[in-house]
Amino acid sequence: MKAIVVHPPKPGLSLSDVNINSDGARIKILENGICGTDREIVNGELSAASELNGFLVLGHEALGILEENTEHLKKGDLVMPINRRGCGKCLNCMLGRPDFCETGMQVEAGISGMHGFMREYINDDERYLVKVPNIIKDIAIMAQPLADIEKSVEEIINIQKRLYWPCYDGTYSCRDVLITGTGTIGILFAMLLRTYGFNVYMSNKREPTEMEAKIFDEISVNYYNTSNRIDKSFDVIIEASGSSAEVIEKTLPLLKNNGFYGIFGFAKSGALNIDSKLLQSIVYKSITITGLINGQKPHMEMAMNHLIQWKHEFPKTTSMMITEKVPVSNEKRLNEVLSKKEPGEIKVKILW
Ligand code: BGC
Ligand code: ZN
Ligand code: ZN
Repeated sequence: MKAIVVHPPKPGLSLSDVNINSDGARIKILENGICGTDREIVNGELSAASELNGFLVLGHEALGILEENTEHLKKGDLVMPINRRGCGKCLNCMLGRPDFCETGMQVEAGISGMHGFMREYINDDERYLVKVPNIIKDIAIMAQPLADIEKSVEEIINIQKRLYWPCYDGTYSCRDVLITGTGTIGILFAMLLRTYGFNVYMSNKREPTEMEAKIFDEISVNYYNTSNRIDKSFDVIIEASGSSAEVIEKTLPLLKNNGFYGIFGFAKSGALNIDSKLLQSIVYKSITITGLINGQKPHMEMAMNHLIQWKHEFPKTTSMMITEKVPVSNEKRLNEVLSKKEPGEIKVKILW
């Protein structure tokens, strides 16, 4: 079958014929989403990526159609495969939570230890499949990155149970969140945190684009251009720009007492210098800093529900999310979209 093949750590990609034997029900892949991780692999920048037997099929965001019945799913069902699988050794992995693998020997589709989903077919066990409601077929590809974010918000709320955190009305309406970065991840975080009732502020180092301004208006978030000083403090800050470690250094002092700093995505450059003054304030203010990564099956199921809700609640935003669809036969464009993020992009899909 045809597949998008890479050879990490070498840069580059090709559309090649591959032979992969695996057990489980056969699923025809309809489309894949492209994310920053895929581009880091294509550009030879992700040290965690490795070949399996001389090659690696790329891709961890996929929507497919089941070609046979399984115990709980039916032929013709739309499905999405989970991208991270367990090490088979630790308790978290054995209980379906390889996002908290303790051995570090988990595998990730299209990254390491497991071929990805950018190919004509996959075979998979139904325990790794989430049913996709037909009504969100057009935006369902967002459910994989959204699963990571569902898990992150669940984690923030769990960690903040260390104090009395809800507000006088029992909700999170008095809690202010700053999200640095306005890409796909930043926008999904903003939508989910609004859905949970938080006050959300987004930031980037420029004025918002026209499309961003429409989105911020519809989902009711405030915006900061960080070339001006931010004169406000926050209960939660989420680093979702993945650009430079310095973003963290600049924003960490903006946290209130008992604040939570979540780092999502991988900084590409810079260093985080925590001097003794900042270190003392982290301790004095009881601040928590946590890395946020990888959602699992319960989170992907929640993501499907939120996408259904948002299609009705945020119709403009959800209709703007898919910014390009590239047929796999268009090899020139395929190479371009897999190497570089273009301005204005939210999510690019590859169609099989
Ligand atoms: C995926 C995560 C994954 C992470 C690290 C991201 O692009 O969405 O689920 O755990 O990469 O490899
Ligand atoms: Zn990804
Ligand atoms: Zn494990």
